Amino acid sequence: MRTIRLNLAERSYDVQVGHGLLANLGDHARALALGRRVAIVVDQAVADSCLDPVCTSLQAAGFSPVVLPFEGGDPAKSMATAEDLLGRLIEAELDRRAWVLALGGGVVGDLGGFIAAVYLRGIDFVQVPTTIVAQVDASVGGKTAVNHRLGKNLVGAFHQPRLVVIDTDVLRTLPRREFVAGLAEVVKHAAIADGDLFTFLEEHLEALVEQRLAADQLDWMIARNVAIKAGVVESDERESGARALLNYGHTIGHAIEAATAYERYRHGEAVILGMLAVAELGARRGFWSASDRQRHDALLVRLGVPAGVADIAADSIVQRTRSDKKRVDGHLRLVLCRRLGEAAVVDGIAESEVRAAVTHLQEHYGR
Ligand SMILES: NC(=O)c1ccc[n+]([C@@H]2O[C@H](COP(=O)([O-])OP(=O)(O)OC[C@H]3O[C@@H](n4cnc5c(N)ncnc54)[C@H](O)[C@@H]3O)[C@@H](O)[C@H]2O)c1
Ligand SMILES: [Zn+2]
Repeated sequence: MRTIRLNLAERSYDVQVGHGLLANLGDHARALALGRRVAIVVDQAVADSCLDPVCTSLQAAGFSPVVLPFEGGDPAKSMATAEDLLGRLIEAELDRRAWVLALGGGVVGDLGGFIAAVYLRGIDFVQVPTTIVAQVDASVGGKTAVNHRLGKNLVGAFHQPRLVVIDTDVLRTLPRREFVAGLAEVVKHAAIADGDLFTFLEEHLEALVEQRLAADQLDWMIARNVAIKAGVVESDERESGARALLNYGHTIGHAIEAATAYERYRHGEAVILGMLAVAELGARRGFWSASDRQRHDALLVRLGVPAGVADIAADSIVQRTRSDKKRVDGHLRLVLCRRLGEAAVVDGIAESEVRAAVTHLQEHYGR
Protein backbone atom coordinates (compact mmCIF):
# COMPACT_ATOMS: atom_id res chain seq x y z
CA MET A 1 0.00 0.00 0.00
CA ARG A 2 1.20 3.52 -0.80
CA THR A 3 0.20 6.51 1.29
CA ILE A 4 0.17 10.04 -0.03
CA ARG A 5 -0.24 12.69 2.62
CA LEU A 6 -2.08 15.87 1.70
CA ASN A 7 -0.64 18.63 3.83
CA LEU A 8 -3.36 21.19 4.38
CA ALA A 9 -2.73 22.27 7.98
CA GLU A 10 -5.58 21.04 10.20
CA ARG A 11 -7.37 19.66 7.15
CA SER A 12 -4.51 17.29 6.25
CA TYR A 13 -5.32 13.71 5.34
CA ASP A 14 -3.95 10.52 3.85
CA VAL A 15 -4.77 9.01 0.49
CA GLN A 16 -4.10 5.28 0.53
CA VAL A 17 -3.56 3.48 -2.75
CA GLY A 18 -3.31 -0.27 -3.22
CA HIS A 19 -5.23 -3.37 -4.16
CA GLY A 20 -7.45 -5.28 -1.76
CA LEU A 21 -7.84 -2.25 0.52
CA LEU A 22 -11.61 -2.40 0.95
CA ALA A 23 -11.19 -5.25 3.42
CA ASN A 24 -9.31 -2.97 5.83
CA LEU A 25 -11.45 0.10 5.44
CA GLY A 26 -13.07 -0.30 8.85
CA ASP A 27 -9.71 -0.48 10.64
CA HIS A 28 -8.50 2.69 8.95
CA ALA A 29 -11.70 4.52 9.85
CA ARG A 30 -11.35 3.40 13.44
CA ALA A 31 -7.78 4.68 13.55
CA LEU A 32 -9.17 8.15 12.79
CA ALA A 33 -11.59 7.89 15.72
CA LEU A 34 -14.57 8.55 13.47
CA GLY A 35 -18.04 8.28 15.01
CA ARG A 36 -19.79 4.92 15.20
CA ARG A 37 -22.53 5.74 12.73
CA VAL A 38 -21.77 6.11 9.04
CA ALA A 39 -23.98 6.92 6.07
CA ILE A 40 -22.78 5.21 2.90
CA VAL A 41 -23.69 7.19 -0.22
CA VAL A 42 -23.50 4.86 -3.20
CA ASP A 43 -25.00 4.55 -6.66
CA GLN A 44 -26.74 1.42 -7.82
CA ALA A 45 -23.98 0.05 -10.09
CA VAL A 46 -21.34 0.40 -7.40
CA ALA A 47 -23.61 -1.01 -4.72
CA ASP A 48 -23.83 -4.21 -6.76
CA SER A 49 -20.06 -4.66 -6.98
CA CYS A 50 -18.53 -3.08 -3.87
CA LEU A 51 -21.05 -2.57 -1.09
CA ASP A 52 -20.80 -5.97 0.60
CA PRO A 53 -17.07 -5.92 1.39
CA VAL A 54 -17.33 -2.31 2.57
CA CYS A 55 -20.21 -3.01 4.96
CA THR A 56 -18.55 -6.18 6.24
CA SER A 57 -15.31 -4.35 6.96
CA LEU A 58 -17.06 -1.45 8.68
CA GLN A 59 -19.21 -3.71 10.82
CA ALA A 60 -16.25 -5.85 11.83
CA ALA A 61 -14.55 -2.67 13.05
CA GLY A 62 -17.59 -1.75 15.17
CA PHE A 63 -19.27 0.78 12.88
CA SER A 64 -22.98 0.94 12.25
CA PRO A 65 -23.63 1.73 8.57
CA VAL A 66 -26.79 3.16 7.02
CA VAL A 67 -26.85 2.70 3.26
CA LEU A 68 -28.16 5.58 1.13
CA PRO A 69 -28.37 4.30 -2.42
CA PHE A 70 -29.41 6.54 -5.29
CA GLU A 71 -29.78 6.05 -8.99
CA GLY A 72 -26.45 7.53 -10.12
CA GLY A 73 -25.44 9.34 -13.29
CA ASP A 74 -24.66 13.02 -13.72
CA PRO A 75 -28.32 14.16 -13.87
CA ALA A 76 -28.71 12.76 -10.35
CA LYS A 77 -25.96 15.09 -9.06
CA SER A 78 -28.63 17.62 -8.24
CA MET A 79 -30.07 19.73 -5.45
CA ALA A 80 -33.07 17.39 -5.50
CA THR A 81 -30.93 14.31 -4.81
CA ALA A 82 -28.94 16.20 -2.17
CA GLU A 83 -32.15 17.21 -0.46
CA ASP A 84 -33.43 13.65 -0.56
CA LEU A 85 -30.18 12.28 0.89
CA LEU A 86 -30.13 14.97 3.60
CA GLY A 87 -33.66 13.95 4.50
CA ARG A 88 -32.52 10.39 4.92
CA LEU A 89 -29.68 11.53 7.24
CA ILE A 90 -32.19 13.44 9.35
CA GLU A 91 -34.63 10.52 9.45
CA ALA A 92 -31.83 8.21 10.53
CA GLU A 93 -31.14 10.70 13.36
CA LEU A 94 -27.46 10.98 12.57
CA ASP A 95 -25.70 13.46 14.82
CA ARG A 96 -22.53 15.50 14.37
CA ARG A 97 -20.29 12.55 15.18
CA ALA A 98 -21.66 10.56 12.25
CA TRP A 99 -19.77 10.60 8.96
CA VAL A 100 -20.43 10.10 5.29
CA LEU A 101 -18.66 7.50 3.21
CA ALA A 102 -18.83 8.27 -0.50
CA LEU A 103 -18.46 4.96 -2.33
CA GLY A 104 -18.40 5.43 -6.10
CA GLY A 105 -17.33 7.60 -8.99
CA GLY A 106 -17.07 11.36 -9.12
CA VAL A 107 -20.82 11.82 -9.02
CA VAL A 108 -21.07 9.97 -5.71
CA GLY A 109 -17.98 11.73 -4.34
CA ASP A 110 -19.20 15.20 -5.25
CA LEU A 111 -22.69 14.55 -3.93
CA GLY A 112 -21.58 12.69 -0.82
CA GLY A 113 -18.99 15.35 -0.07
CA PHE A 114 -21.57 18.08 -0.56
CA ILE A 115 -24.09 16.63 1.88
CA ALA A 116 -21.26 16.03 4.37
CA ALA A 117 -20.24 19.68 3.97
CA VAL A 118 -23.70 21.03 4.75
CA TYR A 119 -25.34 18.48 7.06
CA LEU A 120 -25.35 20.01 10.54
CA ARG A 121 -22.92 22.60 9.10
CA GLY A 122 -20.41 19.93 8.24
CA ILE A 123 -19.59 16.38 9.31
CA ASP A 124 -16.64 14.15 8.50
CA PHE A 125 -16.40 12.29 5.27
CA VAL A 126 -14.32 9.58 3.71
CA GLN A 127 -13.94 8.90 0.01
CA VAL A 128 -13.70 5.47 -1.55
CA PRO A 129 -13.46 6.33 -5.25
CA THR A 130 -14.29 3.58 -7.74
CA THR A 131 -13.63 5.11 -11.19
CA ILE A 132 -10.35 6.29 -12.67
CA VAL A 133 -11.73 9.84 -12.76
CA ALA A 134 -12.58 9.69 -9.09
CA GLN A 135 -9.33 7.96 -8.06
CA VAL A 136 -6.95 10.32 -9.84
CA ASP A 137 -8.96 13.51 -9.72
CA ALA A 138 -12.31 13.97 -8.02
CA SER A 139 -11.56 12.33 -4.67
CA VAL A 140 -8.47 14.44 -4.01
CA GLY A 141 -8.76 18.11 -3.29
CA GLY A 142 -11.98 18.66 -1.39
CA LYS A 143 -14.11 20.19 -4.12
CA THR A 144 -17.71 19.08 -3.68
CA ALA A 145 -20.68 20.18 -5.73
CA VAL A 146 -24.03 19.50 -7.25
CA ASN A 147 -25.29 20.76 -10.58
CA HIS A 148 -27.92 23.48 -10.90
CA ARG A 149 -30.32 23.58 -13.79
CA LEU A 150 -28.48 26.70 -14.97
CA GLY A 151 -25.07 25.06 -14.97
CA LYS A 152 -22.79 22.26 -13.82
CA ASN A 153 -21.14 22.26 -10.40
CA LEU A 154 -22.47 25.71 -9.53
CA VAL A 155 -23.48 24.87 -5.97
CA GLY A 156 -20.91 23.39 -3.66
CA ALA A 157 -18.29 23.81 -1.00
CA PHE A 158 -14.68 23.05 -0.28
CA HIS A 159 -14.80 20.21 2.21
CA GLN A 160 -11.75 18.01 2.55
CA PRO A 161 -12.24 14.32 3.36
CA ARG A 162 -10.64 12.81 6.47
CA LEU A 163 -9.32 9.90 4.44
CA VAL A 164 -9.32 8.62 0.87
CA VAL A 165 -9.03 4.87 0.30
CA ILE A 166 -8.26 3.89 -3.29
CA ASP A 167 -8.60 0.19 -3.97
CA THR A 168 -7.50 -0.39 -7.54
CA ASP A 169 -9.17 -3.83 -7.58
CA VAL A 170 -12.56 -2.14 -7.88
CA LEU A 171 -11.63 -0.89 -11.35
CA ARG A 172 -12.04 -4.40 -12.75
CA THR A 173 -15.77 -3.94 -13.18
CA LEU A 174 -15.51 -0.45 -14.64
CA PRO A 175 -16.87 -0.35 -18.21
CA ARG A 176 -14.17 0.22 -20.81
CA ARG A 177 -15.61 3.54 -21.95
CA GLU A 178 -15.41 4.90 -18.39
CA PHE A 179 -11.90 3.53 -18.05
CA VAL A 180 -10.69 5.28 -21.21
CA ALA A 181 -12.41 8.54 -20.29
CA GLY A 182 -10.66 8.40 -16.92
CA LEU A 183 -7.31 7.83 -18.56
CA ALA A 184 -7.73 11.17 -20.32
CA GLU A 185 -7.15 12.80 -16.91
CA VAL A 186 -4.10 10.59 -16.43
CA VAL A 187 -2.64 11.73 -19.75
CA LYS A 188 -3.43 15.29 -18.68
CA HIS A 189 -1.46 14.89 -15.45
CA ALA A 190 1.45 13.36 -17.34
CA ALA A 191 1.46 16.12 -19.94
CA ILE A 192 1.43 18.98 -17.44
CA ALA A 193 3.59 17.55 -14.69
CA ASP A 194 5.33 14.24 -15.23
CA GLY A 195 7.36 13.26 -18.26
CA ASP A 196 8.14 9.84 -16.72
CA LEU A 197 4.46 9.08 -16.31
CA PHE A 198 3.99 10.05 -19.94
CA THR A 199 6.68 7.57 -20.98
CA PHE A 200 5.05 4.90 -18.78
CA LEU A 201 1.76 5.48 -20.60
CA GLU A 202 3.48 5.22 -23.96
CA GLU A 203 4.89 1.86 -22.89
CA HIS A 204 1.79 0.41 -21.28
CA LEU A 205 -1.30 2.07 -22.69
CA GLU A 206 -2.85 -0.97 -24.37
CA ALA A 207 -2.14 -3.24 -21.40
CA LEU A 208 -3.70 -0.62 -19.16
CA VAL A 209 -6.86 -0.25 -21.22
CA GLU A 210 -7.26 -3.99 -21.60
CA GLN A 211 -6.71 -4.40 -17.86
CA ARG A 212 -3.64 -6.59 -18.33
CA LEU A 213 -1.30 -4.40 -16.31
CA ALA A 214 0.21 -5.95 -13.16
CA ALA A 215 -1.63 -4.82 -10.02
CA ASP A 216 1.47 -3.15 -8.64
CA GLN A 217 2.01 -1.15 -11.81
CA LEU A 218 -1.59 0.01 -11.74
CA ASP A 219 -1.18 1.00 -8.10
CA TRP A 220 2.01 2.91 -8.98
CA MET A 221 0.26 4.74 -11.79
CA ILE A 222 -2.74 5.74 -9.70
CA ALA A 223 -0.48 6.82 -6.84
CA ARG A 224 1.63 8.96 -9.19
CA ASN A 225 -1.52 10.72 -10.30
CA VAL A 226 -2.71 11.27 -6.77
CA ALA A 227 0.68 12.73 -5.90
CA ILE A 228 0.50 15.14 -8.84
CA LYS A 229 -3.00 16.26 -7.95
CA ALA A 230 -2.07 16.46 -4.26
CA GLY A 231 0.95 18.63 -5.02
CA VAL A 232 -1.15 21.08 -6.98
CA VAL A 233 -3.89 21.17 -4.34
CA GLU A 234 -1.39 21.73 -1.54
CA SER A 235 0.04 24.73 -3.30
CA ASP A 236 -3.40 26.19 -4.04
CA GLU A 237 -6.18 24.67 -1.97
CA ARG A 238 -8.90 27.06 -3.11
CA GLU A 239 -7.99 27.36 -6.74
CA SER A 240 -6.64 30.85 -7.05
CA GLY A 241 -3.46 30.07 -8.96
CA ALA A 242 -1.46 26.87 -9.58
CA ARG A 243 -4.55 24.66 -9.52
CA ALA A 244 -5.46 26.22 -12.84
CA LEU A 245 -2.84 23.97 -14.47
CA LEU A 246 -5.27 21.10 -13.96
CA ASN A 247 -7.52 22.78 -16.51
CA TYR A 248 -5.24 21.62 -19.31
CA GLY A 249 -7.49 20.60 -22.20
CA HIS A 250 -10.55 21.56 -20.19
CA THR A 251 -11.54 24.97 -21.53
CA ILE A 252 -12.09 23.70 -25.06
CA GLY A 253 -13.17 20.30 -23.68
CA HIS A 254 -15.90 21.91 -21.57
CA ALA A 255 -17.01 23.97 -24.56
CA ILE A 256 -17.36 20.78 -26.62
CA GLU A 257 -19.34 19.12 -23.83
CA ALA A 258 -21.65 22.11 -23.55
CA ALA A 259 -22.05 22.42 -27.33
CA THR A 260 -23.29 18.83 -27.39
CA ALA A 261 -25.60 19.30 -24.39
CA TYR A 262 -23.45 16.98 -22.24
CA GLU A 263 -24.98 14.06 -24.05
CA ARG A 264 -22.53 12.93 -26.67
CA TYR A 265 -19.22 12.67 -24.84
CA ARG A 266 -18.04 11.53 -21.46
CA HIS A 267 -16.16 14.38 -19.79
CA GLY A 268 -12.81 12.63 -20.36
CA GLU A 269 -13.58 12.13 -24.04
CA ALA A 270 -14.17 15.84 -24.44
CA VAL A 271 -10.89 16.47 -22.61
CA ILE A 272 -9.08 14.27 -25.17
CA LEU A 273 -10.47 16.56 -27.87
CA GLY A 274 -9.60 19.64 -25.84
CA MET A 275 -6.01 18.51 -25.37
CA LEU A 276 -5.61 17.85 -29.09
CA ALA A 277 -6.90 21.33 -29.84
CA VAL A 278 -4.68 23.20 -27.36
CA ALA A 279 -1.69 21.18 -28.54
CA GLU A 280 -2.18 22.81 -31.93
CA LEU A 281 -2.63 26.23 -30.37
CA GLY A 282 0.62 25.80 -28.43
CA ALA A 283 2.44 24.62 -31.55
CA ARG A 284 1.28 27.69 -33.48
CA ARG A 285 2.73 29.85 -30.72
CA GLY A 286 6.03 27.97 -30.86
CA PHE A 287 5.42 26.78 -27.32
CA TRP A 288 6.76 23.30 -27.67
CA SER A 289 8.83 21.06 -29.91
CA ALA A 290 7.34 19.22 -32.86
CA SER A 291 8.49 15.91 -31.39
CA ASP A 292 6.82 16.43 -27.99
CA ARG A 293 3.66 17.56 -29.69
CA GLN A 294 3.76 14.52 -31.96
CA ARG A 295 4.16 12.14 -28.98
CA HIS A 296 1.33 13.90 -27.16
CA ASP A 297 -1.07 13.54 -30.05
CA ALA A 298 0.02 9.98 -30.82
CA LEU A 299 -0.74 8.84 -27.27
CA LEU A 300 -4.18 10.42 -27.39
CA VAL A 301 -4.87 8.76 -30.73
CA ARG A 302 -3.94 5.40 -29.20
CA LEU A 303 -6.24 6.12 -26.28
CA GLY A 304 -9.04 6.80 -28.73
CA VAL A 305 -10.29 10.04 -30.21
CA PRO A 306 -14.08 10.11 -29.94
CA ALA A 307 -15.88 10.53 -33.22
CA GLY A 308 -18.04 13.32 -34.47
CA VAL A 309 -16.39 16.59 -33.48
CA ALA A 310 -16.53 17.79 -37.10
CA ASP A 311 -20.34 17.74 -36.91
CA ILE A 312 -20.39 20.51 -34.33
CA ALA A 313 -20.42 24.08 -35.62
CA ALA A 314 -16.99 25.52 -34.78
CA ASP A 315 -18.69 28.72 -33.69
CA SER A 316 -20.74 27.01 -31.06
CA ILE A 317 -17.54 25.61 -29.52
CA VAL A 318 -15.60 28.88 -29.76
CA GLN A 319 -18.48 30.90 -28.30
CA ARG A 320 -18.69 28.61 -25.33
CA THR A 321 -15.06 29.16 -24.42
CA ARG A 322 -16.14 32.78 -23.84
CA SER A 323 -18.23 31.91 -20.84
CA ASP A 324 -15.32 30.04 -19.28
CA LYS A 325 -14.45 31.28 -15.80
CA LYS A 326 -10.84 31.59 -16.91
CA ARG A 327 -11.47 34.52 -19.24
CA VAL A 328 -9.74 37.81 -18.51
CA ASP A 329 -10.41 41.12 -20.35
CA GLY A 330 -11.91 39.58 -23.45
CA HIS A 331 -8.94 37.30 -23.90
CA LEU A 332 -8.81 33.74 -22.82
CA ARG A 333 -6.48 32.14 -20.32
CA LEU A 334 -5.36 28.67 -21.32
CA VAL A 335 -2.94 26.07 -20.07
CA LEU A 336 -0.31 25.20 -22.66
CA CYS A 337 2.41 22.56 -22.55
CA ARG A 338 6.01 23.73 -22.84
CA ARG A 339 7.22 20.16 -23.09
CA LEU A 340 5.88 16.80 -21.99
CA GLY A 341 5.72 17.12 -18.23
CA GLU A 342 5.65 20.90 -18.00
CA ALA A 343 2.86 23.38 -18.60
CA ALA A 344 2.13 27.03 -18.01
CA VAL A 345 -0.94 29.21 -17.62
CA VAL A 346 -0.97 31.63 -20.53
CA ASP A 347 -3.06 34.79 -20.70
CA GLY A 348 -4.05 36.85 -23.66
CA ILE A 349 -5.12 34.10 -26.04
CA ALA A 350 -7.13 35.62 -28.86
CA GLU A 351 -10.37 34.11 -30.04
CA SER A 352 -8.89 33.72 -33.52
CA GLU A 353 -6.29 31.35 -32.06
CA VAL A 354 -8.98 29.26 -30.42
CA ARG A 355 -10.91 29.15 -33.67
CA ALA A 356 -7.85 27.99 -35.61
CA ALA A 357 -7.20 25.26 -33.05
CA VAL A 358 -10.81 24.05 -33.16
CA THR A 359 -10.75 24.03 -36.95
CA HIS A 360 -7.54 22.02 -36.91
CA LEU A 361 -9.15 19.55 -34.49
CA GLN A 362 -12.16 19.16 -36.74
CA GLU A 363 -10.07 18.72 -39.88
CA HIS A 364 -7.64 16.19 -38.42
CA TYR A 365 -9.71 14.35 -35.83
CA GLY A 366 -13.23 15.12 -36.91
CA ARG A 367 -14.59 11.77 -37.96
N1 LIG B 1 -14.60 17.25 -7.25
C1 LIG B 1 -13.73 17.26 -8.22
O1 LIG B 1 -12.62 17.78 -8.07
C2 LIG B 1 -14.06 16.60 -9.51
C3 LIG B 1 -13.06 16.35 -10.45
C4 LIG B 1 -13.40 15.66 -11.61
C5 LIG B 1 -14.71 15.27 -11.84
N2 LIG B 1 -15.67 15.57 -10.93
C6 LIG B 1 -17.05 15.16 -11.14
O2 LIG B 1 -17.06 13.75 -11.26
C7 LIG B 1 -18.16 13.36 -12.06
C8 LIG B 1 -17.68 12.33 -13.05
O3 LIG B 1 -17.14 11.25 -12.34
P1 LIG B 1 -17.11 9.78 -12.96
O4 LIG B 1 -16.56 9.85 -14.33
O5 LIG B 1 -16.45 8.93 -11.95
O6 LIG B 1 -18.66 9.45 -13.16
P2 LIG B 1 -19.71 8.57 -12.34
O7 LIG B 1 -19.57 8.75 -10.89
O8 LIG B 1 -21.02 8.87 -12.95
O9 LIG B 1 -19.29 7.08 -12.72
C9 LIG B 1 -19.38 6.65 -14.05
C10 LIG B 1 -20.20 5.36 -14.18
O10 LIG B 1 -19.44 4.26 -13.70
C11 LIG B 1 -20.20 3.50 -12.77
N3 LIG B 1 -19.21 2.93 -11.83
C12 LIG B 1 -18.50 3.60 -10.91
N4 LIG B 1 -17.59 2.78 -10.35
C13 LIG B 1 -17.75 1.57 -10.93
C14 LIG B 1 -17.10 0.32 -10.76
N5 LIG B 1 -16.05 0.18 -9.96
N6 LIG B 1 -17.55 -0.71 -11.50
C15 LIG B 1 -18.58 -0.56 -12.37
N7 LIG B 1 -19.21 0.59 -12.57
C16 LIG B 1 -18.80 1.66 -11.86
C17 LIG B 1 -21.16 4.48 -12.17
O11 LIG B 1 -22.29 3.83 -11.68
C18 LIG B 1 -21.49 5.36 -13.38
O12 LIG B 1 -22.47 4.76 -14.16
C19 LIG B 1 -18.71 14.61 -12.70
O13 LIG B 1 -19.91 14.96 -12.06
C20 LIG B 1 -17.64 15.65 -12.42
O14 LIG B 1 -18.17 16.93 -12.29
C21 LIG B 1 -15.37 16.20 -9.78
ZN1 LIG C 1 -11.57 16.76 -15.93
